[in-house]
Amino acid sequence: MNERARSEAVAHSIENSAFFMPFSTNRQFKKAPRMFARAEGIHYYTPEGRQVIDGTSGLWCVNAGHCRPKIVAAVQKQVATMDFSPPFQMGHPAAFEFADRIAKLAPKGISRVFFTNSGSESVDTALKFALAYHRMRGEGHRMRLIGRERGYHGVNFGGTAVGGIVGNRKIFGALVTGVDHMRHTHDLAKNAFSRGQPKHGAELADDLERLCQLHDPSTIAAVIVEPVACSTGVLVPPVGYLERLREICDKHGILLIFDEVITAWGRLGKPFGSQFFGVTPDLITTAKGITNATVPMGAVLMKEEIYQAFMGGPEGAIEMPHGYTYSAHPLACAAGLATLDVYQEEGLLTRAGELAGYWEEQAHALKDLPNVIDIRNIGLVAAVELAPRLGAPGTRGFDAHLKAFEQGAYIRYTGDIIALAPPLIIQKAEIDQLFAIVREVLGSLA
Ligand SMILES: Cc1ncc(COP(=O)(O)O)c(C=O)c1O
Repeated sequence: MNERARSEAVAHSIENSAFFMPFSTNRQFKKAPRMFARAEGIHYYTPEGRQVIDGTSGLWCVNAGHCRPKIVAAVQKQVATMDFSPPFQMGHPAAFEFADRIAKLAPKGISRVFFTNSGSESVDTALKFALAYHRMRGEGHRMRLIGRERGYHGVNFGGTAVGGIVGNRKIFGALVTGVDHMRHTHDLAKNAFSRGQPKHGAELADDLERLCQLHDPSTIAAVIVEPVACSTGVLVPPVGYLERLREICDKHGILLIFDEVITAWGRLGKPFGSQFFGVTPDLITTAKGITNATVPMGAVLMKEEIYQAFMGGPEGAIEMPHGYTYSAHPLACAAGLATLDVYQEEGLLTRAGELAGYWEEQAHALKDLPNVIDIRNIGLVAAVELAPRLGAPGTRGFDAHLKAFEQGAYIRYTGDIIALAPPLIIQKAEIDQLFAIVREVLGSLA
C-alpha cells in the first residue's frame, strides 16, 4: 500500500471508529483528526513525524516531560516481575514505600495516603472520607458538601456535584443532594492582567460563612476547592482568599479539601500548592503528575487526626469500606517511585519557582495582541482570555487550539481561554518558542 492509500485507509477507519472519545467533539474530530503517535521530552510527534511542543503537559500531568527513561524502565521491570497484586488484605512493598515518600513531601501534619486511580476517584474518595470521618466522631449530621462555581473536580458523581462548570453538570440530573456552591473568584473588572495572585476578592471567601448561616454550619461536612482552578481557565486565588476559607472552616469544624490534581507535583514551584500558598487543608486530592501520567494513579492525602479517627474500632474490623481493584497498582507504584526520583534528582518540584518570573514576562508580553482581555499566571501556568466572537462564544479559543496544532504547539482551551502549562523541564528558549507560536496564532485569529 502506498503512503497516500495508507493515510486514506487510516482516515476512513477513524471516521467510522467505534471509539466514543471523552470530552471531545466526536463528529468534528473524526472528520479532521489531530493525532499524536510518539512523545519525548517536551514534544509530541504526529504520525507523519511533525514535532509539536507540548504546551499543556498532556493534560496538566506530564510534569517531568515525556517518556523519561528511568520511569519507562521502572514500569517495564515491574510489569515483567509482578503485573498485579490484590490491594485488599494483601500488599506489595512498593505501595508502602510510595505512600511514605509522598507523605514526606506533603505539608506538615498531612501524614497518610490512600491510593486511587484518577483525580475523579480521588475527589469522590475524599468526599466519602469527610462524611465518614464526621460520623466516626459522632457528627453524622454533617452531610452537606460545599464546592465552588466553575470548580472542576472530575466526573464521578460526587465530583460532578461539587463541581461548578454548568456544561459538565446540567445533563446529569440531581447528582448528589445536599451540595451548595460558593461564587467563583474570577473578576475581570477588578483583576484583569494580574501577575500572580490578584489583589481583589478575598471577601468572596465569606460566601462560605453565608452558606454556613443558611444551612447551619453543623450540617456541613466539607468544603472543596482547587487552590488554582485550572481546568476552568486558570483562576488564581485572590490574596488572602484561601486563608479566609481556612479560618471559616476552623471556626465551624468543617473539613477543608484542596483538590490538587493539577497544583501538586511542582506546578507552582513546591511539591504541593498548599505549600506554595502557605495554607494547609485537612485533605488533599491528587493524581496526574503523581506518576508523571505514565500509569493512571491518584491519591487522597489526609491529616493524622483523620486517619486516627478511623482506627478506633476493633482491630479485626475493616476501617474504611472503600478502595478500588487497582488501588496501589504495582505498575503505578513503580512509575510513581521512579517519577519521584526524577523530580528530586532534577529539582523539578521547585523548578517552576525558578522559571516563574521569566514565564510571567513572556505571558504578559502577549497583552498587545487583538482580542486579549486578560492574561493571568502563577507558577508554570498561564492563561490568555480572549474576547468571545459575537454570537459564537468558544469558537475563538477552539480556532486558537487548531491553529496552534498546525503551527507546532499543543495548547488547551476552555471556551475562549487558552491555558498553558508545559512540562517543568522546559528551557527558557523553548518557552520563547511556545510563546512565539501563541503570538503568531493569536495575531492571525479573526
Ligand atoms: C482539579 C481536578 N480535579 C479532578 C480532576 C479529574 O481528574 P481525572 O481526569 O484524572 O479523573 C481534574 C482533571 O483535570 C482536575 O483538574
